[in-house]
Amino acid sequence: MFATILNNTANSNNGMEQMDKWRKAGKIAAQALEYGKELIKNGAVIRDVCDKIDAKIVELGALPAWPSQIGLDSIAAHATPDYDDQSVFENNIVCLDVGAHIDGCVGDNALTVDLSGEWGDLLKAAKDALKVGIETADKGVSLGEIGKNIQEAIQSHNFSPIRNLSGHGISEWTIHDSPSIPNIATGDNRTLEGDQIIAIEPFATNGAGSVYEMEQANIFALENPKPVRSPFAREVLKFIEENYGPLPFATRWLVKEFGAGKTNLALRELQQRNIVHAHPPLVERAKGNVAVFEKTIYIGDQKEILTR
Ligand code: CO
Repeated sequence: MFATILNNTANSNNGMEQMDKWRKAGKIAAQALEYGKELIKNGAVIRDVCDKIDAKIVELGALPAWPSQIGLDSIAAHATPDYDDQSVFENNIVCLDVGAHIDGCVGDNALTVDLSGEWGDLLKAAKDALKVGIETADKGVSLGEIGKNIQEAIQSHNFSPIRNLSGHGISEWTIHDSPSIPNIATGDNRTLEGDQIIAIEPFATNGAGSVYEMEQANIFALENPKPVRSPFAREVLKFIEENYGPLPFATRWLVKEFGAGKTNLALRELQQRNIVHAHPPLVERAKGNVAVFEKTIYIGDQKEILTR
């Protein structure tokens, strides 16, 4: 979608306006990520940190593209606290993933903070892999080549990439679009075509190198809107459509609006009818520790880091 707009209207105001939105969203996502990094301290309430980051995104002039995600130790992604969760940081390895959007133009970035003081090497592996991935990614370069270089960078630090998590294309209102940007040598010959936005997102672990979904989700997204009968579910669905569209939202965002009882009833019904989809936390299969670094970049005639 984004590529089409740029191709057809590269010199028109419309095209430039659109590109400005991607740049602005990217910049705000990067500022919010840095802000969040400073809040990650032993003893801080994790939910407060997520709420502050989400509020910061609004203050800076964008909207959260999803609830700020904080995964501890072996949790790689898709974790955000429930409304009543009072858990605090305790010497964890903390993966923070933050997204901001302006009219569906999304900046997606992540970093890891090591509160244990013992896993600097793991963070370095993921950080180096991101650098290598960004250096490799270019118009005409194959997806397999990017994955190969990311894998080698992580393995040179004696850690493993998480092979069933990948970077991804991003287009308007679609945070995980094609192509997938692998973190391993897949041998995929398809190349980056240019005029596209991608997120490079290498995960490093000392575990088995894959993740699985846990049971309990606090992040959901509208997938398949259709009419519902019960008044609770109808009211909550309307709110989701108006406020988040197809982008992910947190249970606690709804609880603030509707209370816990009503939210849980409505979410259960919307899930049962396949209207909303749950995105449960992703945990490393061998409970290895996980580190991730991520940036959103524009691949054009020139490469541009948007989340900076
Ligand atoms: Co991403």
